[in-house]
Amino acid sequence: MTELEYLDWNNSIQIIDKAYEASLFVIIIGPKGTGKTSLVRDFAKRKNMNLESINFSLRTRESHLVGTKTLTDGTVSFEEGILIKSMREGDMLYLDEINSAEADVLLRLDEALDDRRQIVLKESTGEIVKAKENWFVVATINPLTHSGTKELPPQLLSRFPVRIRLEYPPEDVELEIVKKHISGDHESEIIQAIKLANTLRQAAAVEELFYSPSLRETIAFGKLLDRGMPSKSAADIVFGNVYTQWGNIEYQKVSDIITSMFGN
Ligand SMILES: Nc1ncnc2c1ncn2[C@@H]1O[C@H](COP(=O)(O)OP(=O)(O)O)[C@@H](O)[C@H]1O
Ligand SMILES: [Mg+2]
Repeated sequence: MTELEYLDWNNSIQIIDKAYEASLFVIIIGPKGTGKTSLVRDFAKRKNMNLESINFSLRTRESHLVGTKTLTDGTVSFEEGILIKSMREGDMLYLDEINSAEADVLLRLDEALDDRRQIVLKESTGEIVKAKENWFVVATINPLTHSGTKELPPQLLSRFPVRIRLEYPPEDVELEIVKKHISGDHESEIIQAIKLANTLRQAAAVEELFYSPSLRETIAFGKLLDRGMPSKSAADIVFGNVYTQWGNIEYQKVSDIITSMFGN
């Protein structure tokens, strides 16, 4: 996909910029699909900074961050990981879904993020790697309601004193964002889809439904319309069918809402 311009609807770029100027690290908090990754990429692009990214999961190991020993032609060398690389180069480091990582991984990260901004390479030479001056770290966390996410330890959270909340945008803003991703003009159908998405989001927020659709879904809906799909079918496919996962009653609830909004 071609790089699209990020619509900075809540002034997040400016906040990140001030944090960068002040050498303060940033954490972005919000549900999936609200534009966290796009925001960070857009900022790096504007600043012309190299961006190193890692997406955390339970399987992320310290070695992904710090590095691993490798054997080539009979000699052992140490291949530095993304954390060390970004510190040496003074790049921007993007730690995505940091609260999905295991405690030991977070502890190692904490070593680098504290005010000295340095880490001991105990895996290889024992060298102390000091971060270059403009090293900049931005992390994201999903709200705790998301499965697989844990609470971030408070001392690690304190390494990110600039906190940005990124929620689902207001309807008119979401429409503008969807329009950036599509070519056709389906304004009234897309407005309906955004209303549907917001209904489902509100139901999910009070735990009446198990799943909350994101901007990815409203964008996908628009793209299917671009390819000539009728809006009722696109709504079923993008918004409705997923609820079958939680059984027929859950699915039927949503299916009825879709029929009431898009007809039969
Ligand atoms: N403000 C925005 N401007 C342009 N596109 C956006 C914006 N917010 C979200 N999107 C689009 O929505 C989708 C999900 O965004 P993404 O950055 O991957 O979300 P997250 O990282 O929060 O899960 C992407 O296709 C992205 O391009
Ligand atoms: Mg993301």
